[in-house]
Amino acid sequence: MGLRLLATAGVISCWTLGAQTPAANDSPFAGSNGCRPCHPAQALQFFRNPHFKTTVAKGATPENMGCEACHGAGKKHIAAGGGRATIPNAFSLMQPNQVLDACLRCHSKDVNRANIRRSSHTQANVVCTSCHSIHRSDSAKSLLAAKQADVCYGCHSDVRAQFSQPFKHRVNEGFMTCSDCHNPHGANSGVSKTGHRPRMVETGLQNEQPCMKCHTDKRGPFLFEHAAVRVDGCESCHSPHGSTNARLLKRPVVFTVCLECHNGSGSFGRQADGIPTQSASHNMADPRYRNCTTCHVRVHGSNADRRFLR
Ligand code: HEC
Ligand code: HEC
Ligand code: HEC
Ligand code: HEC
Ligand code: HEC
Ligand code: HEC
Ligand code: HEC
Ligand code: HEC
Ligand code: HEC
Ligand code: HEC
Repeated sequence: MGLRLLATAGVISCWTLGAQTPAANDSPFAGSNGCRPCHPAQALQFFRNPHFKTTVAKGATPENMGCEACHGAGKKHIAAGGGRATIPNAFSLMQPNQVLDACLRCHSKDVNRANIRRSSHTQANVVCTSCHSIHRSDSAKSLLAAKQADVCYGCHSDVRAQFSQPFKHRVNEGFMTCSDCHNPHGANSGVSKTGHRPRMVETGLQNEQPCMKCHTDKRGPFLFEHAAVRVDGCESCHSPHGSTNARLLKRPVVFTVCLECHNGSGSFGRQADGIPTQSASHNMADPRYRNCTTCHVRVHGSNADRRFLR
């Protein structure tokens, strides 16, 4: 919480690096203004950076202020006339886990990043600086190296094609972002009830799928839940990114989606009330029965009918 208290930067009238005064003579810290002469590009941009706040934070200690909060004490570096070897944190020389530690020193408390150390990104050595750029960001908000989708596509190029299919969520058009559904810092969910991998899909309270944020009518709870929706999840029938099929369905014809689980030709192979459901009413030779959702209109769950007929 201490960090929030630092966020008290007033109106910045010039690009001078805040109120940070040079530290005492025996301190290894030089203060941010000491960096400016040799690194004018980084210094000039810095007032627009949210980290600028650390240079004007009241009561902050030198290791938590400005340039040296990330790069470490710089006095020796300056005395040596520069050089990558003389600055404690030269990111170009650091291992992924060192980068992670340097940033998490301040950023580990946020719930949004509580799972970052065991996320599949961290495990694959994709760390903060793979997505964020402190000195050359696309925008001050979130300090991403580029527009969000482009950052992700840099490594997940196959996903771009999925969002270019005839039916899709409009991510490429800029109406949605990857982080509407994913938490790139590692989702807070464990494994879903059916045991499939969470794919860093962000689940909110009650382990709710991110889809419900927008498709609130699918949220329920319903008197009669469809186990496929509640247990297996939306992606048991839909391709969340995009699809060649209408309604983002996984298969071109609705009944082939249903028959994946309700498999049997005459019967649907499931029992209701202990009575085998040898339903003569479902004559699959009759094309009328092929479009399951013309009758089972509440396939996502119903408050009126256990067969989801209304
Ligand atoms: C929030 C952490 C952070 C702060 C604060 C910070 N830097 Fe950096 N700096 C980085 C990272 C990370 C890199 C590696 C390149 C990147 O990812 O953008 C870097 C790279 C550099 C480089 C190498 C050249 C380059 O631009 O990549 C220089 C020089 C530098 N920083 C100087 C400074 C100076 C001067 C300040 C203060 C005005 C400063 N940094 C503040 C994190 C920080
Ligand atoms: C006297 C000039 C001078 C001053 C003052 C100075 N630097 Fe440097 N710095 C350099 C030179 C030269 C390099 C080496 C650049 C290279 O090898 O590309 C360097 C490299 C760096 C790097 C390494 C970037 C990398 O490759 O990862 C960082 C970080 C850095 N400086 C930060 C700072 C900070 C923070 C301060 C203030 C405390 C500071 N410098 C003050 C001259 C200076
Ligand atoms: C795989 C890419 C990726 C990695 C790795 C990553 N981030 Fe992020 N980060 C993002 C994206 C994308 C957003 C923007 C989320 C949004 O706008 O909803 C973000 C947002 C943030 C934010 C601002 C919003 C918030 O969540 O509070 C902070 C702070 C942040 N990241 C810090 C970090 C730190 C620290 C690390 C490393 C320990 C890191 N990130 C690693 C992609 C990444
Ligand atoms: C000395 C503590 C400190 C360190 C170290 C630090 N940060 Fe920050 N960071 C902050 C503070 C303070 C803010 C501003 C928070 C605010 O605006 O409330 C911030 C803001 C951010 C934001 C923007 C958040 C937003 O809401 O848009 C990102 C992204 C971020 N930091 C990433 C990083 C990364 C990546 C590193 C490592 C290279 C890093 N930080 C190192 C303290 C730190
Ligand atoms: C520097 C490369 C890189 C960047 C940038 C990157 N990723 Fe990843 N991502 C990976 C790697 C490597 C993996 C782990 C191996 C795999 O599953 O492909 C991964 C895995 C994933 C997974 C699957 C997780 C799982 O458990 O199976 C998702 C979802 C994901 N990334 C989303 C994103 C999003 C969203 C962004 C942008 C905010 C992003 N990635 C940016 C490299 C990257
Ligand atoms: C509408 C929500 C949504 C959006 C937006 C979204 N995803 Fe996903 N993504 C998912 C879900 C749900 C899964 C899990 C699918 C599954 O397990 O069958 C997933 C899976 C993934 C995977 C793992 C795929 C695999 O086959 O292993 C990657 C990588 C990924 N998404 C990247 C991205 C990137 C990059 C973006 C933005 C360009 C993005 N996603 C936007 C919902 C979304
Ligand atoms: C940020 C809001 C948002 C989130 C989160 C979201 N969607 Fe959507 N979804 C939309 C919007 C808006 C549309 C309308 C299509 C468009 O963008 O043109 C849509 C369309 C759809 C459609 C097609 C509807 C039709 O009439 O053709 C399906 C199916 C769907 N979403 C399922 C999902 C699933 C499954 C998830 C979770 C993995 C999800 N959505 C997450 C906003 C969202
Ligand atoms: C059992 C399979 C199945 C599951 C699981 C499922 N859906 Fe659907 N969904 C369908 C079918 C089939 C349609 C097309 C209905 C039609 O054509 O009348 C559809 C249509 C939609 C539509 C567009 C029409 C409408 O009703 O708004 C949205 C949005 C949607 N689903 C979202 C979701 C979300 C969000 C989830 C997870 C909570 C989910 N679906 C889970 C089968 C499923
Ligand atoms: C991922 C597997 C799965 C898919 C796909 C699926 N279902 Fe289900 N469905 C179930 C399960 C599990 C039940 C609960 C069965 C039980 O209680 O015996 C169920 C129950 C039902 C019921 C109520 C049955 C009863 O006995 O009360 C109907 C009706 C139904 N599904 C229709 C559909 C339709 C229509 C589709 C295609 C849009 C579909 N289902 C797709 C798994 C699935
Ligand atoms: C013409 C309307 C209609 C169509 C189309 C239809 N159903 Fe039904 N379905 C019903 C009715 C009515 C019931 C309940 C009465 C009964 O058991 O015969 C029912 C019951 C069910 C049940 C509960 C168990 C059972 O067999 O009675 C399941 C599961 C089911 N339908 C799945 C499907 C699937 C999958 C499809 C598409 C292949 C489908 N239905 C198409 C009307 C329809």
